[in-house]
Amino acid sequence: MIKPVELFRDVIKIIDQTTLPELVRFEYIYNLEQACEAIKKLKVRGAPLIGIFAAYTVVQIAREIKDRDLERMKEILRSSIEELSKTRPTAYNLFFALERMRRVVNTTQTKDELLQNLENEAKQIDDEEKARCEKMASHGVRFLKEKTRVLTICNTGYLATNHIGTALGIIYRGVKEGRIQKVFALETRPLLQGARLTMWELKENGIDATLITDNTAGLLMAKGMIDAIFVGADRIAANGDTANKIGTYTLAVLAKYHNVPFYVVAPTSTIDPSTPSGKDIIIEQRDPSEVLGIMGRRIAPEGVNALNYAFDVTPYELITAIITEEGVVEPPFE
Ligand code: MRU
Repeated sequence: MIKPVELFRDVIKIIDQTTLPELVRFEYIYNLEQACEAIKKLKVRGAPLIGIFAAYTVVQIAREIKDRDLERMKEILRSSIEELSKTRPTAYNLFFALERMRRVVNTTQTKDELLQNLENEAKQIDDEEKARCEKMASHGVRFLKEKTRVLTICNTGYLATNHIGTALGIIYRGVKEGRIQKVFALETRPLLQGARLTMWELKENGIDATLITDNTAGLLMAKGMIDAIFVGADRIAANGDTANKIGTYTLAVLAKYHNVPFYVVAPTSTIDPSTPSGKDIIIEQRDPSEVLGIMGRRIAPEGVNALNYAFDVTPYELITAIITEEGVVEPPFE
């Protein structure tokens, strides 16, 4: 698997996910400005991956300023963490990872240790996400009966996690164990993470999948063609309400109506116990131009408006189970 984010000795190497699948383009991140731009423009995206990348960015900045005295270094690092936390509001992993990096800045006493401690922490965040992905896959496969036909939305694989993935991780494992008969991927308008990224990722890994438009999901459920739905999460509130890519809520309502089990797959680093319910989750609104066009080409007439919520919230009552690395929970989720 290609690593979408990798820390080297003097640079962070990323895959620019905006040009996939046409172009597999690597980019090198040297400073805070480039890192913030990469997150905002979705060159780096997917909740766990954003967290990992933000942690590596803090390391990269610490390397850049390592000749300053300890207090000045800490000051710059704290303000950089603040900047990074403003890049995208919904994915909790960003805040989870940055909080860990902030704690290292605050508790390290000597300059010699600071860089090393930050490197260790960031590496650990990355390694922990790997272990979480593997465990979620192990817990999740038991929900796949023989020859399951699964449906998924957005991209939740290694492009979103640096590792096997959340919802897609279960699908990889299910295919490997021969439990999956068919994978359907929603194209995921407006930025087409399903069409561009999930289809590319699965193809790269030799997995046959069928792409459908977002509005085809209901028809397939009505025809009895979907046995289970697996989705990721950007933030899970304390009551189990789940923010995920726009369209996930619609899928969950359809799933309830058609009696199709609806699973949310997310590491505990996505669970935000300080947010009581979904209505307290900040939903990112992005530039209307993403809806007014496709891949930079305008499709709507000039001068019209568009509304572009990047995520929606699925109420916990619609979720069959939340699959985490710690195990599987069913409602009530508190
Ligand atoms: O806007 P994106 O592409 O960052 O949105 C990503 C998603 O909504 C994923 O489903 C979510 O982050 C879970 S990924 C493991």
